[in-house]
Order: sequence, then structure tokens, then C-alpha cells
Amino acid sequence: MLNLRRVTLAGLIVLALASVVRLQAADGLALTPPMGRNSWNKFGCNVSEQLIEQAADAMVASGMKDAGYQYVVIDDCWQVSRDADGRIVADPQRFPHGMKAVADYVHAKGLKFGLYSDAGTGTCQKRPGSKDHEVIDAKTYASWGVDYLKYDWCNTTGQDTRDSYARMSRALAASGRPIVFSICEWGSTKPWLWAPGIGQLWRTTGDIRDCWDCGNPARGGGVVHIIDLVADLYPYAGPGHWNDPDMLEIGNGGLTVAEERAHFSFWALFAAPLMAGNDLSAMTDETRDILTNREVIAIDQDPLGMQGRKVWNSGSQEVWMKPLADGSRAVILFNRGTEASDITVNWADIGLFPGGQATVRDLWTKTDAGVVSDHYSTHVGPHDVAMLRVTPK
Ligand code: GAL
Repeated sequence: MLNLRRVTLAGLIVLALASVVRLQAADGLALTPPMGRNSWNKFGCNVSEQLIEQAADAMVASGMKDAGYQYVVIDDCWQVSRDADGRIVADPQRFPHGMKAVADYVHAKGLKFGLYSDAGTGTCQKRPGSKDHEVIDAKTYASWGVDYLKYDWCNTTGQDTRDSYARMSRALAASGRPIVFSICEWGSTKPWLWAPGIGQLWRTTGDIRDCWDCGNPARGGGVVHIIDLVADLYPYAGPGHWNDPDMLEIGNGGLTVAEERAHFSFWALFAAPLMAGNDLSAMTDETRDILTNREVIAIDQDPLGMQGRKVWNSGSQEVWMKPLADGSRAVILFNRGTEASDITVNWADIGLFPGGQATVRDLWTKTDAGVVSDHYSTHVGPHDVAMLRVTPK
């Protein structure tokens, strides 16, 4: 009886959340978490027309486009000044054919194009920001064919986050082009409380670093710190309004393959934007296989749009679960420790009947464990995960 109540209650919560998020996604943008590639993590300020066009080529040739990646985003440093009319000017050395030509190139590949700006007087790398130029910038972006804007928070002394982001949001809405709006104030004013309806995604944390647990646990940095900081934000994610734990570091060299698998699995369980941050034109097969694992991507892109959460832990063993639209559950068995261990998921902990039957699919080994009753155990290496799709029968 107790278990029946549990399942029914979980079902009602899912339905209630689904109707709320449908209301909030009325503009139809980012109904699933955006997927693409961003220049910052690997290239920093070293952006150019050639680099971006190569990235678009590689997104197609590597199979990433077929796997669902769409947005080719240029981060900071593409802009140098404003002209006499106040229009933003792209660096003529690095983008000799202008930004519209780059956007056209990206669009001709069947992909979408994104740019970066800042709500303050200057960007984090001291290029012109959009403060008091929101309307003209939004119009300029629209005329170039921009589909996605990442909007940063440097040089904003005295500004209010909500007002500043709402101002650019209104300018984008009036620009005549649908532009996904990616809010980047690093979680400093809890955007999950005010940003739905202003932007489609918001950074939750400080900048990710290419490591497992370096950096400041309170601000983010290492992948495992970010996992812990985002864990409790699951009530705020849904179609059209996503928590953004930052761009991926997979393929940048600072993580083991196990840690990269864990990184990708958690971003999928969190329904996070999947923005590759590596050099797509020089990927190892291992990196490509992680970034294009379609069964894991399907967890990220599940139309219900729920962010998963931790449901059990003991010492360094953890079980995380995300409800999916077809009634199955995505499950991560996470080994936070430095020794391999067997980890068990009990159906009771993921909202299924104890003793009941379910099929289990391992999304990394790509094997079926068949029909399993009550619980499932598997061996998980240090800093590694098993990611499962558990479907009740
Ligand atoms: C940071 C932002 C990074 C990157 C960088 C560019 O504020 O969090 O993702 O955009 O600025 O200067």
C-alpha cells in the first residue's frame, strides 16, 4: 500500500511539473536543453572565422550534428569596438568577411549560430559590453542571423541582474528573430528563482575547470564540485528553462576517461545544456564516442525535461535517478571513491515497486541485462559511473 502511494504521488508530481513547464515554454525556444559547441574552454580569446568554420565542418564530419548538436557559439573576444552609429564591430583581422558571412557558413551546414556579449560596460576580456546598447545589439545580431546569445556579467557595478537580463531579453524578443538567451551570472543571484521567462538557460555556478576536484568547492570549478552544487536545483529545470552547470571539458585532457564518462552522464541526468568545449577537429575516438553516445544524449533530451537527483548514498557510493517521459528511469550508479566497488540500485529508491520487474539497459556498455526483479548491482570503477535505463514491466 505504501509503495502504491509512493508511485502514485511521484506520478502526480511529474504531471503537475509537466503542465507548469509547458506554460513557461510558450515561446517554443529550447524545449530540450541546447546542444552545441562553444569556443571558450579550449580556445579562450583565440577565436577566428577559420576556427569557427572548422568547428562547423567538424561538427558535421564527426557525427556530432547527427547526434543532435546544433549551436556553434563564439564566446568572448570576437568584438573590438563600436562604429559611429553605436553598432558593434567584429574584429576585422580575425573575421575579415564579417559575422554575417560566418553565420551564413554555419547555417549552410544545417547548424545554428551563437554569439557572446555582456550585460555590463565591457565583457570579461574587456571588449565592448551591451549596457545601454541592448536594442541596437539585438537588432545587429538578428540581421547577422544569430540564433543564440550567451550574456555574461562582468563590469556591471551597480546593476541589478534581473533588470539587466530582462532588458536584453525584451530587446531580443523585439529583434524579429528567435534567439535562445543564455544567462551567465554564475549563479550569483540565484537565477533559477527569477530567470524563467527571461532566458532559456542560466549558469548555476562559477567557471568549470578541466579537472575532477580542483578549484573552490563552494563556487564550482572541478566537475565533482559542480555536480554537488547543482544537485539541489532539480525543481527549477524544465522545457524552456534549464539549469546550466557550464560547458563540457570532455576531450580537453584534464580528466580520465572514467571521469569524462561521469561528467557526460551527470550533465545528461541534470538535463543540462550539452555544449562541447573541446577542439572538434582533433578529437580522439574515445572523446567522440562519449560526446556522441546517443542513448545518454536521449536521457539529456528527454521531452519530460526533468532534472535528476540523488536518491541514495552510503560512503562513496551513490544512486541518482531521473524520471523519463515513457515511465522509465535513468539511473546513475556513481562511485565517488578511489577504489572500485559494487553499487546497487533498489527499485524502491527510484519509485518502482520493490520486488517488481523491470528491464535494465546499460548505456555505456550498450548491453541489456534483461528482466530484473527488485534491484540491480554492478561493478563501478573509481570516479566512474554506470548509467542505466530502467523500464518497469
Ligand atoms: C566568464 C564566463 C565564461 C567565459 C568567459 C569569457 O565570465 O563564465 O564561460 O564566457 O567569461 O571571458
